[in-house]
Amino acid sequence: MIKSLGIIIAATAILSANENPKGVEGLSKETRALLADEMKHIEKGMHHIFSSIVKGEYEEISKTATDIHNSFIFAQSLTETQRAELKANLPQGFIDLDRSFHAAAAKLSEAAEFEDKAAVEENFSTMTGLCVQCHSTYAAQRFHAFSEQ
Ligand code: HEC
Repeated sequence: MIKSLGIIIAATAILSANENPKGVEGLSKETRALLADEMKHIEKGMHHIFSSIVKGEYEEISKTATDIHNSFIFAQSLTETQRAELKANLPQGFIDLDRSFHAAAAKLSEAAEFEDKAAVEENFSTMTGLCVQCHSTYAAQRFHAFSEQ
């Protein structure tokens, strides 16, 4: 009885090891390229938001933050197969961080609509922190400084 239980546990461990998401390394070349494009897009957006913050251009901040909020995770250009591929490869933690990132973008857009200077700065900083958090957890192979920490 104990022996067979052991076998079941071992078999379950092997099965779940196979089901472990591999992260971005497990994505096809095309889907990974799409992710990189999206990242460049949000990086550009963040630069633009920074410039708009220091100039008090709230409308620009709101527009760009909404754009970032809507675009990710490159929803428009994904095929059904790619969507399934992402789900199979990206760990729950990645999806949670992505969600937090998008929630912060929505909050930033709203803060800019109200011309709330402090909330704009706070949410911009939250977003920057989430870039770093996700990269240091899931993209250390791309950003080597994070793998040395
Ligand atoms: C939920 C996770 C996540 C968040 C949040 C995130 N990134 Fe990324 N980013 C990644 C991953 C994973 C890669 C590496 C992709 C790869 O290796 O193919 C990446 C790569 C990049 C790249 C390199 C793209 C290229 O040329 O290959 C840039 C630039 C980038 N991110 C910018 C940002 C910025 C700016 C933010 C925040 C405003 C951000 N990212 C937020 C996961 C994230």
